[in-house]
Amino acid sequence: MKTQVCIIGGGPAGLLLGHLLHAEGVECVVLEQRTPDYVLSRIRAGVLENITVSLMERLGLDARLKAEGMPHDGFNLADGERLIRIDMADLVGDHVWVYGQTEITKDLMDAAPERGLQVIYEAEGVALHDVAGDAPYVTYRLPGDEDDRRVDCRFIAGCDGFHGPSRKAIPASAGTPYELVYPFGWLGILADVPPCNHELIYANHERGFALASMRSATRSRYYIDVPLTDRVEEWSDDRLWDELAIRLGPEAAANITRGPAIEKSIAPLRSFVFAPMRYGSLILCGDAAHIVPPTGAKGLNLAASDVHYASEALIRFFKAADNDAVATYSDKALARVWKSERFSWSLTKLMHRFPEGGAFERAMQVAELDYIANSRAAQTTIAENYVGLPV
Ligand code: FAD
Ligand code: DHB
Repeated sequence: MKTQVCIIGGGPAGLLLGHLLHAEGVECVVLEQRTPDYVLSRIRAGVLENITVSLMERLGLDARLKAEGMPHDGFNLADGERLIRIDMADLVGDHVWVYGQTEITKDLMDAAPERGLQVIYEAEGVALHDVAGDAPYVTYRLPGDEDDRRVDCRFIAGCDGFHGPSRKAIPASAGTPYELVYPFGWLGILADVPPCNHELIYANHERGFALASMRSATRSRYYIDVPLTDRVEEWSDDRLWDELAIRLGPEAAANITRGPAIEKSIAPLRSFVFAPMRYGSLILCGDAAHIVPPTGAKGLNLAASDVHYASEALIRFFKAADNDAVATYSDKALARVWKSERFSWSLTKLMHRFPEGGAFERAMQVAELDYIANSRAAQTTIAENYVGLPV
């Protein structure tokens, strides 16, 4: 097969990029190693910034998001006793949308056949070749194949997440990985119960971090931080609900409705950036190039902003023979990536108890939360970052 852009990975980054290119007449194909059901079974992010919503609007795929998603004007930081409301509408005149990543992925997936975007699922053994030059190709197999299939293209877009093959196709001498691994993970629970609060609550309690989030008026998503050595089997639903009630503080606890977990899993936390985000004819987007700790809900939104820059660059290359657009992609994307990394890292440090952090570190967190509670300037900084910096 011959195409202009071969996209590896059919998660939110790959599908968004595919739709944006296809809508502008740039030929592309998406190769995804899993089945559609498997991709949709991964429960992840829940908060959308404007950049993500505006790309869905541009594609005309925002109808369900606008009907079922919930615009949130504010969210709360809690220090174990009080709630500090960050009023995004008042502070920066903006809001975020609460709508699951799974729903975004489903909307993009459902629209692919009717728009003629080719997505090949269950592509096994995907491998990238000749990425340094201007005639790269990708090989893969479908279940039952004896021989490799081949996609010749002008560019490869690596949208295959942190563990995919794209970033690994870049020689070690051509890029630098920057990494920070945190000494805890997030244990998440999804349950069909009404949320305990109409807005999100990020809490830093003596016993650790907790987050109260939601997917709808009848579906809640909660997280606590746990040591990396904990296993999900050690956390019965009851034990987790008890811990959430303590960490979220008395006001939220009084409104928690308990219910059986639909999903419960532990995700490790890490900050990671690979720079540059382009090598030859290979462009990296989303988790393939960077990871943020989930505090601040930036992961999916950062994938969307990469896709915004990447689609612009590729469309200019094919429609206006503009080589510079691709050459400057990495610098443009990274400028925003580093700022989101900084925000996610600083909110993670503020809201979690680090095992090695002593009484002084704890006192600094308490002082900072107290400062934020009483400073409009501090709240504005948080609101500006939470709604998403401009692209
Ligand atoms: P992905 O969603 O990882 O998609 C990559 C796709 O590539 C996948 O479909 C994968 O199957 C496919 N792929 C991988 N390898 C290959 C291959 N060899 N061949 C073909 N296809 C391949 N963010 C938040 O903001 N809040 C959260 O609560 C949150 N929770 C998370 C929990 C977990 C366990 C993880 C891993 C991430 C979480 N994130 C969260 C981050 C957020 O989900 C990601 O930033 C977002 O999914 C990035 O989208 P992506 O398309 O770049 O990568
Ligand atoms: C959710 C996840 C996050 O990482 C976050 O910061 C806010 C909400 C969620 O899954 O709902």
